[in-house]
Amino acid sequence: MDGMMRAAPTARRGAGVGLFLRRWARNPLQMGSVLPSSPALGRAIARHSRWDGGASVLELGAGTGAVSRALLAAGLPPERLVVVEIVPEMAAHLREALPGARVVTGDAFALPSILPAGLRLGTVICGIPLVLLPLERQRAFVEAVEAVAPGLGFLLYTYCATSPLPYRKLGLGARREAFTPWNLPPASVWRYRPG
Ligand SMILES: C[S@@+](CC[C@H](N)C(=O)[O-])C[C@H]1O[C@@H](n2cnc3c(N)ncnc32)[C@H](O)[C@@H]1O
Repeated sequence: MDGMMRAAPTARRGAGVGLFLRRWARNPLQMGSVLPSSPALGRAIARHSRWDGGASVLELGAGTGAVSRALLAAGLPPERLVVVEIVPEMAAHLREALPGARVVTGDAFALPSILPAGLRLGTVICGIPLVLLPLERQRAFVEAVEAVAPGLGFLLYTYCATSPLPYRKLGLGARREAFTPWNLPPASVWRYRPG
């Protein structure tokens, strides 16, 4: 599978903030935030993620891996963490920062063609700033997730005070699962499910 490889056993966490800032300066709409997610936000997301019965967790737009690290710290076995990142430089960083995890360089909107076959998912997490996209792109994202994890829906973290997605127009149900003031800016975790 194109762009898929195992992470190397090295850690470069400190390099993450500089890399994040550089990418934000080049493409703020793609990054959606000036700073990486905080450990507190990562823990809130991990608390609402499931990987029981051998399921994997899929993280879309993993950036510097702040949320990924929180998932691993919460007990997710690295080989059951699959991250997708569209920027090759960030994907390379993730391969070093997340030993044992599966890192896919690619576009989350093309999930069915970039993910390994036979993946059973317990949770899908979205770090892509969907709120900045037009409705038809949001719909395309929902369809891409539905194609690889029917009925599962996804978690989305956001700095918006209310739902960042017009969920009824997208045919989704929505629930705010968590809020943390310990992120810059303060953030919420929303769960969206079809129906
Ligand atoms: C808000 S940042 C992620 C923050 C991450 N939690 C961290 O702390 O580093 C959004 C990430 O989504 C990635 N991204 C944007 N569009 C994407 C797409 N279509 N497919 C995959 N990744 C995408 C960006 O390159 C960026 O790394």
